[in-house]
Amino acid sequence: SAADKLEYVKSKIGKHIDFPKKGIVFRDIFGALTDPDACVYLRDLLLQHIRAAHPDVELIVGLDSRGFLFNLLLATELGVGCAPIRKKGKLAGEVISVEYQLEYGTDTFEIQRAAIKPGQKVLLVDDLLATGGSLRAATELVRKVGGVVLESLVVIELEELQGRKKLDCNVHSLIQY
Ligand code: PRP
Ligand code: ADE
Repeated sequence: SAADKLEYVKSKIGKHIDFPKKGIVFRDIFGALTDPDACVYLRDLLLQHIRAAHPDVELIVGLDSRGFLFNLLLATELGVGCAPIRKKGKLAGEVISVEYQLEYGTDTFEIQRAAIKPGQKVLLVDDLLATGGSLRAATELVRKVGGVVLESLVVIELEELQGRKKLDCNVHSLIQY
């Protein structure tokens, strides 16, 4: 069942105290991705959610870098395209930038202006929602280039950090801590 798959994936997610800084409890998605069953279950769970909640999705946008683990996979299964939001200086052509804060630092995200068609329905995807700084910046970028954000979809949500409150779009997580 879906609940069994979710429980299995959760059991494989790693936990590292004081990484990358003292006081941070790092939840490690790669602990699950090295397990072949967890990979398949994770794919199934994400697709099941998207097909039920957002059958009208037109583009998957993944966040640098752990979001990229999911955007091409989901896009090919759903028959839509995908695009990246990347850390500054990596994307060619005309780009829009926004600076943001995350749980353990500050950074700049960019998107290519040509990545999204006006009015295109976008699903944002990442491994984890912490303070929400990354997905908030990503939402802003998608909207600045004319996209409509259907939802921010993450595998893991760190509920105590209340990142969801910072986001003015739908938010869905598979696993909560
Ligand atoms: C991590 C994670 C999310 C973000 C969440 O990425 O993959 O993108 O932090 O934190 P927030 O909700 O507080 O913004 P990181 O910037 O560490 O980069 P990486 O994906 O390249 O490891
Ligand atoms: N990104 C931001 N905070 C994180 C955490 N606690 N674990 C893993 N990735 C993160």
